[in-house]
Amino acid sequence: MAELRENEQKTLLALEKLDGRGSIEEIMGISGLAHAAVMRAALSLKTKKLAKINEEKRTSVALSEEGKHHARKGLPERRLIQAITRLGGEATVKKAVEKASLEENFLTIALGWLRRKGWATVKKHVLTISEKPKIGDDETLLTLLDEKGPQVLEDMSKELQKAVSTLKSRGLVEIEKKTLRELELTKTGWELVKQGIEIVEEVSQLTPELVVTGKWRKVKLRRFNVTARGPAVYPGKVHPLQQMIQGVKEAFLEMGFTEIRGPIVETAFWNFDALFQPQDHPAREMMDTFYLARPKEGGLPKEDIVEAVAKTHENGWITGSRGWEYSWSSDEARKLVLRTHTTSVTIRYLSDHKEPPVKVFSVDRAYRNERVDYKHIPEFYQIEGIVMDKDVTLRDLMGTLKEFYSKLGIRKVEFWPGYFPYTEPSVQATAYVPKLKSWIELCGMGIFRPEVLEPLNIKYPVLAWGGGLERLALLKFGIDNIRFLYKNDLGWIRRMPLCQ
Ligand code: PHE
Repeated sequence: MAELRENEQKTLLALEKLDGRGSIEEIMGISGLAHAAVMRAALSLKTKKLAKINEEKRTSVALSEEGKHHARKGLPERRLIQAITRLGGEATVKKAVEKASLEENFLTIALGWLRRKGWATVKKHVLTISEKPKIGDDETLLTLLDEKGPQVLEDMSKELQKAVSTLKSRGLVEIEKKTLRELELTKTGWELVKQGIEIVEEVSQLTPELVVTGKWRKVKLRRFNVTARGPAVYPGKVHPLQQMIQGVKEAFLEMGFTEIRGPIVETAFWNFDALFQPQDHPAREMMDTFYLARPKEGGLPKEDIVEAVAKTHENGWITGSRGWEYSWSSDEARKLVLRTHTTSVTIRYLSDHKEPPVKVFSVDRAYRNERVDYKHIPEFYQIEGIVMDKDVTLRDLMGTLKEFYSKLGIRKVEFWPGYFPYTEPSVQATAYVPKLKSWIELCGMGIFRPEVLEPLNIKYPVLAWGGGLERLALLKFGIDNIRFLYKNDLGWIRRMPLCQ
């Protein structure tokens, strides 16, 4: 036989006094234990097969405030009919009300029920008794509830149960469903109780007093369940996406990069033209790019840069290229847009930092007018980086990227030919995701073309790459919908670890 805890012993003793069965409340009364303590003891006695828990769903019926009032004074129709009787079996409504001293708000109710119960008729404000008004079940129930307190619906006669629904529709009773629990000793339980139970005091904390007095020898120390889960706590924490951004920035910093930022509202010049994207490039169309309505235009950089960019677009200028062979418009370049990528940030930075080495990055928002779906949102984060130095090559770029993504936990990266108007060669990096058993796009990359570098008078090769952040976040958090990241679903945020 497993050892019994103090509360289990007390519960068993209470059950013995109750002849083997009793409600939780009765056991509480005899044992002096709290409700939760009896319930806990009941459950462990059940596992030890010493007691059974019987559950019964019961409906308790009690008088409402108005019900109490009528129970004491009589139902309004009863009060009115009594008044009429006393007035000789016939009276005007006014007289009857006066005689009954019926409150005004009960008059309509009283008249309605007089008619429904067939006790009286009303004609031209005169009430006439039509039948001897017998005590109804509703009145019997009212008195019962008033005298004996709340009653169990299931124990009532058919008639009284019907009366309950009448009184309920009149708002005179309130109904509450309860689960009544009763504990019953099993055969083994009885045998144990008959052997006699001696209650041994149990302590859950060893106090100095117990030690000093030597009382600790006699008490029983309660066992602790050290494998029980602690309560869940939800402290404040950094949003998972922000944690991820922090992680990306750290990876860059560890590799010796410096963070830069640039304007969100940018001229088409820095967002497109300086990157050798022709003015009729499809990405510039309203469909993709958010153009500003007010103000519509921004300023262009120094004349010589603008001119060099213009010529490069038109005929290749001194870059050795033929350009795009169209007539470049400065009006188009002046238009303000929400930057469609953060390459605008790095190219702007380069125009002011022409001396090598340059190793900078940005993790920031970009905007595209895309239809929202599970992998597109109009406002998103881009990871962007450049390296400018003497003699850097595509190999350095691929190596840097491998290193960077491996810091983020992505080990298998592959490179494919790609295309961007501003890089040559252009490369697309993909990563293998074992969990999904598939490849995902990581970023675009390449070496800035002479058509980009010459107009800015940059003399050294520039390695550049840029890619989305949310895609990585989805992978990391194991979710399949980008919108989740911005929904602020408290349940999800709470379940995420404190630190990634
Ligand atoms: N700007 C490109 C994009 O938004 C990525 C890129 C950056 C490609 C730098 C090449 C060089 O997808």
